[in-house]
Amino acid sequence: MESLLTDIDHVAIAVHDLDAAVAWYAETMGAKVVHREDVVSDGVREALIRVGDSYIQLLTPTRADSTVAAFLERRGEGLHHVGYRVANCSEALDAVRASGARVIDEVPRPGSRATTIAFVHPTTSFGTLIELVEESVSTSSTHQ
Ligand code: CO
Repeated sequence: MESLLTDIDHVAIAVHDLDAAVAWYAETMGAKVVHREDVVSDGVREALIRVGDSYIQLLTPTRADSTVAAFLERRGEGLHHVGYRVANCSEALDAVRASGARVIDEVPRPGSRATTIAFVHPTTSFGTLIELVEESVSTSSTHQ
């Protein structure tokens, strides 16, 4: 079978203090934020740092009932999920589900940067929360 995964889109890291994390990457790695966004539906604020064709996604909760708030409480700061780029999120989600993996999103939904995304549950993926990311045509052509 051909790989569903075309690239690593982002590595997401949950942090308590987004500005402190952004400053750390700038001062320690010289890495700059290229995009910031509040994902209101998920109760998170993100700052994206470009690394090659991929991103580090620094993630902090904006409300107490956010899943990232629960993660920070349970596990502390650190790696939260890996976003893999796929050509077609809907097809990739169907294929992953058909293979027996447990999914969180039954249908794809909007993500940040006008992407289309779906999450795969960590229980069937060796403890890693996986996000399938389909870029919009405009972002994939220009890599904003
Ligand atoms: Co993500």
